Amino acid sequence: MTQGLCAGGASGPAAQSAAAAQSVPVLRGQTLYQARCSGCHAVDANDIGPLHRGVLGRRAGTVPGFDYSPALRASRLVWTRQTLDAWLRDPEALVPGQGMDEQVLDPQERQDLIVYLASLL
Ligand code: HEC
Repeated sequence: MTQGLCAGGASGPAAQSAAAAQSVPVLRGQTLYQARCSGCHAVDANDIGPLHRGVLGRRAGTVPGFDYSPALRASRLVWTRQTLDAWLRDPEALVPGQGMDEQVLDPQERQDLIVYLASLL
């Protein structure tokens, strides 16, 4: 009976599994964020680095009250999945003279981090 329900294709279970599939990378990204980013960043407060809520789609270097490097402020970048990936891979290659001393070399880790950042609406 339980099996019948699971295989039945009702919208409830299907929607649940879609939500679960989406949340796994978000959770992986959140764990990575705690380990790799939270020493300098927080979601809702400026710290050594700027706050991150709403970063996807924002112009680089524009969080109010954060003292950015002149290089990042002048970069005219917009944070998309592509620019975030390039930034996390090698910030200095993307914006020479920037001020973030951290790189994420593993493409899967960057992907998970970006999914997490994108979830911070
Ligand atoms: C050692 C401290 C440090 C760590 C660790 C760090 N950051 Fe940063 N981050 C900074 C600083 C400082 C800046 C501002 C750089 C500038 O002004 O040039 C920054 C800027 C950024 C920006 C640009 C934000 C904006 O408003 O334009 C993003 C995105 C970002 N960091 C993501 C991350 C992520 C994701 C991680 C974890 C993998 C991380 N950072 C780890 C210090 C850090």
